[in-house]
Amino acid sequence: MVEIMHSNILELYELREDALEGGGQKRIDHQHKGGKLTARERIDLLLDEGSFEELDILKVGRNAVSAGETYPGDGVITGHGTINGREVFVFSQDFTVTGGSLGEGHSQKICKIMDLAAKVGSPVIGLNDSGGARIQEGVDALAAYGEIFHRNVNASGVIPQISCIMGPCAGGAVYSPAITDFIFMVEQTSYMFVTGPNVVKTVIHKEITSEELGGSQTHASKSGVAQFVYPNDILCLRAVRQLISYLPSNNRQKAPILDLNDPPERTDPALDYLVPSNPNQSYDMNVLIKSILDGAEFLEVQPQYAPNIICGLGRLGGQTIGLVANQPAVLAGALDNNASAKGARFVRFCDSFNIPLVCLVDVPGFMPGPEQEHGGIIRHGAKLLYAFTEATVPRITVIVRKAYGGAYIVMNSKHIHCDINYAWPTAEIAVMGARGATEVIYRKEIKAAENPEALFNEKMENYRKHFMNPFLAAKRGYIDDVIFPRDTRHRLIRTLQILENKKGGRPDRKHGNIPL
Ligand code: HXC
Repeated sequence: MVEIMHSNILELYELREDALEGGGQKRIDHQHKGGKLTARERIDLLLDEGSFEELDILKVGRNAVSAGETYPGDGVITGHGTINGREVFVFSQDFTVTGGSLGEGHSQKICKIMDLAAKVGSPVIGLNDSGGARIQEGVDALAAYGEIFHRNVNASGVIPQISCIMGPCAGGAVYSPAITDFIFMVEQTSYMFVTGPNVVKTVIHKEITSEELGGSQTHASKSGVAQFVYPNDILCLRAVRQLISYLPSNNRQKAPILDLNDPPERTDPALDYLVPSNPNQSYDMNVLIKSILDGAEFLEVQPQYAPNIICGLGRLGGQTIGLVANQPAVLAGALDNNASAKGARFVRFCDSFNIPLVCLVDVPGFMPGPEQEHGGIIRHGAKLLYAFTEATVPRITVIVRKAYGGAYIVMNSKHIHCDINYAWPTAEIAVMGARGATEVIYRKEIKAAENPEALFNEKMENYRKHFMNPFLAAKRGYIDDVIFPRDTRHRLIRTLQILENKKGGRPDRKHGNIPL
């Protein structure tokens, strides 16, 4: 006897078939020609093979239903799957369907997975490729964005939120990614701006391309909007998987431990020679970072933006840490407005998600000059000070060389209650550098001297001998130990172990008022 399949089951096959085709082969080819993958191809690359479970594949927007139009999936594919076996939620905008434009149904699909993710405590990854608010839906489309923004804010600090910009992202639509923790962009195919080149031309009569105005390089190096940039969709999605491997799934968990088979007791004698004897000579802080981290693996955040401060994720003894380091090879490692804001945001991210902070210090001070002062170095520097001070995760500091003045205090010092701090013997913990100090303290004496230059040099040398070391601070108990550079990795791992169960509280309040 021939079994006849129920007509609804047959219909389901057909409906799914239609949805899987998205905007059709012609538009898919167009997407590929432009160097972009389709929304589904991207999900396949992002998630563990075969792990994607789609939700709402049949959903279309109310407006589409009334107009009798079919917008497969309403321009977005949503669901969940795993990355290295851990659950994540994902939405992927389908540019082949009405340009991935966002209307009511599209937004409802995104909101549904955001709500689920917040409930179960898993990250949300958004793959953005959209022409913005669906113009035909008018104010419904604007309301739809608002619903997403509201959820982005409520999920902030609860679950990691990651945005990949893989096509256009314009107008108010930029504000959802902007609220998420990390923005990835793809070179050449992605751009983000609040007002596009046409509006710029009309309002301020300036010709500018989309790429110049809001391409990946612009946001990676000038605006600081993007944290990561990759040459194509494939490398971008691979990097998202890597980022997820460092993170806990939510703010109640700790990051997963990953053993990279790098012995915790490993020492590096070369570090004893890293800091040059001449205090004016620079060196590359990355050498120290790579040396101490497990397997020399380091995922740097915003490498092209404010490179005078280095922020990123690595592991020590298998445990994820957030690393913040001054880079003496750029602007002598001085803190400026951008570096302060970059550092502060990263510190707050780590604190939100129980990631211990390790701070490597070589800072001659804040960057002087009207540009910095007028740009708000007081406000921006205060952000970094505030962020370190309020962080309740384990906080460890190693002073490698310069630690001068206010910048010394700000860089996770003992005085703002880091848990444990070390100094290398090469550390110079002082109110200011030898030259500046000599000029201030001995100005009159030197002016009156027979040989001012000789006296200046003598006084400067005395100051250097007396103040430019870690021993005065160690005698006062402001430094927990002066350590041999070669032992840094081992000492950090041991310290993280003792701080593992640290309980840190904050005063009872709604929230503090970080100087934004
Ligand atoms: C409806 C849209 C659309 C939109 C694109 N499409 N954007 N439909 N609403 N916002 C449709 C197109 O009509 C076209 O349909 C298909 O998507 C592909 O678009 P193309 O223009 O052919 O593609 P391309 O040449 O690659 O150009 C992409 C684009 C352009 C640069 C994004 O489409 C564009 O400028 N779109 C409008 C962008 C915009 O102004 N959005 C509103 C931003 S303000 P067919 O059927 O012809 O294939 C905003 C406010 C958010 O978003 C507020 C939040 C609070």
